[in-house]
Amino acid sequence: MRKSSLWIVLGLAAVVLVAFNVQAGDHAFVGAAKCKMCHKVQYASWETTSHAKATDEAKASTDREYSADCAKCHATNADEAMAGVQCEACHGAGGDFKKMSIMKDRDAAIANGLIIPTQATCDGCHNGEDHAKKVALADNLNNKEAIHDFKNPPGE
Ligand code: HEC
Ligand code: HEC
Ligand code: HEC
Ligand code: HEC
Repeated sequence: MRKSSLWIVLGLAAVVLVAFNVQAGDHAFVGAAKCKMCHKVQYASWETTSHAKATDEAKASTDREYSADCAKCHATNADEAMAGVQCEACHGAGGDFKKMSIMKDRDAAIANGLIIPTQATCDGCHNGEDHAKKVALADNLNNKEAIHDFKNPPGE
């Protein structure tokens, strides 16, 4: 193989590796617009939360300098291309569960990566370090500024 084509192969391999970075475990992130199709109530409400605006907010910060490191909490998958703390930051990457046939079967959805958020989900970002204050999930289930409106509210 000529040296120039070897570099092309190495370059392609790097592109493939970067593409794989967009995965959580074995599941691909699809973005909130895909969830919106079937979950309009939650989407419309989530869109108004500070979570939805978290990347812009970090970039606009005047007291901390923005860097790629901020995206691990201020974006969905540590990549600012998936801006905001979207659905999948709390519910898991949807590539394998977003299909209707899987979504309507709760167990199948969970087996394919759906996460029903627990306190640990919040703790991943609200870790109590620096300015990332701890939050109690139980106190925020009805906080539409933080999560979203529910079609089937938890516990009802
Ligand atoms: C093709 C339609 C469709 C798409 C796309 C879709 N869902 Fe669903 N989802 C459903 C249906 C149907 C249910 C079960 C009934 C309900 O709660 O509305 C459901 C249930 C859920 C539940 C509740 C699980 C439970 O039992 O507590 C969550 C959370 C959820 N979906 C998140 C998502 C996320 C996040 C995305 C995007 C990655 C997504 N869904 C994409 C149709 C869809
Ligand atoms: C460990 C996760 C984490 C990292 C890393 C992180 N943040 Fe935050 N950030 C949070 C959380 C959680 C909040 C919400 C805190 C609250 O008010 O409860 C927040 C809030 C903010 C806010 C709005 C409110 C405030 O306290 O000023 C700004 C602006 C902000 N972060 C900027 C940044 C910037 C810039 C970076 C990178 C230098 C960064 N953050 C890194 C988790 C993080
Ligand atoms: C991917 C990281 C991430 C996850 C997961 C996450 N959050 Fe956040 N949360 C943030 C960031 C970043 C902010 C600050 C947004 C901003 O203002 O820029 C925030 C803001 C908030 C705020 C508003 C704070 C304020 O004073 O404005 C509440 C309340 C909150 N989150 C609750 C929760 C709860 C409850 C969970 C778990 C169900 C959760 N968060 C999961 C990153 C996260
Ligand atoms: C900050 C974390 C967080 C984000 C972001 C988030 N959710 Fe949720 N979601 C929750 C929590 C917490 C529950 C309640 C879980 C339970 O049943 O205890 C929930 C429940 C749900 C449910 C089931 C209850 C219902 O309304 O019928 C659906 C569907 C859902 N979310 C869809 C979405 C979609 C779509 C998005 C993005 C547009 C999204 N969520 C963004 C935390 C989040």
